[in-house]
Amino acid sequence: MEISIRKETQGDYEQIRDVIKSAFKAIGERDNEFNEWNLAERIRESEYYINDLSLVAEIGGTVVGHIMFTPLKIKGDKECYESLDLAPVSVHTDFQSQGIGKLLVRSGIEIAKRLGYKSLIVMGDPKYYQNFGFKLASDWKIGLNNNFDSKYLFALELVEGGLDGVSGIVEYCPPFYNEKGELI
Ligand SMILES: CC(C)(COP(=O)(O)OP(=O)(O)OC[C@H]1O[C@@H](n2cnc3c(N)ncnc32)[C@H](O)[C@@H]1OP(=O)(O)O)[C@@H](O)C(=O)NCCC(=O)NCCS
Repeated sequence: MEISIRKETQGDYEQIRDVIKSAFKAIGERDNEFNEWNLAERIRESEYYINDLSLVAEIGGTVVGHIMFTPLKIKGDKECYESLDLAPVSVHTDFQSQGIGKLLVRSGIEIAKRLGYKSLIVMGDPKYYQNFGFKLASDWKIGLNNNFDSKYLFALELVEGGLDGVSGIVEYCPPFYNEKGELI
């Protein structure tokens, strides 16, 4: 089974939607405006879309996995730091636990390093992300919504010292918020 990782193209959009839907419906996401498959489309239509960091995993011409990264800000008391967010990531339920997710995350991390990003933030399962070297964001006093103690918010330095002196509140790019400014 040969898995290839490449940038998404317009011809993949329909298959990507199916992949995200399959993965997130399996963990209880519902059909509403603010689910992950709609989030990916909102990101794509926005100025925050990074095509170099929107990747698919393909097997024999079929898209089986997808990952997206978007710019993120860490707002400190005096300074605002540029970082990157990983979300969403999904592997079609028929292809999970075969290393495809790992390959997508690792490929994204390598590309982000090449593009010069210094750090990466992710909200997710500790067991999964610690494998990639992520540490609790709270180690740097990086928090979300005034919660500086989250067990699910992680950070990874993409260069040595990439988060030296960085602390503050995470602000995702606009497609992650509804019209009331709430994180969705
Ligand atoms: C999370 C996800 C992308 C991982 O992709 P995958 O191809 O199944 O994962 P991999 O094969 O690379 O890694 C499998 C390992 O991760 C573990 N794992 C998979 N999903 C996990 C999860 N949500 N939480 C914790 N561990 C998870 C597996 O138990 C397995 O462990 P092992 O290697 O010790 O056996 C995929 O399971 C998925 O699409 N899940 C639903 C959507 C989701 O939760 N996205 C992430 C939101 S942060």
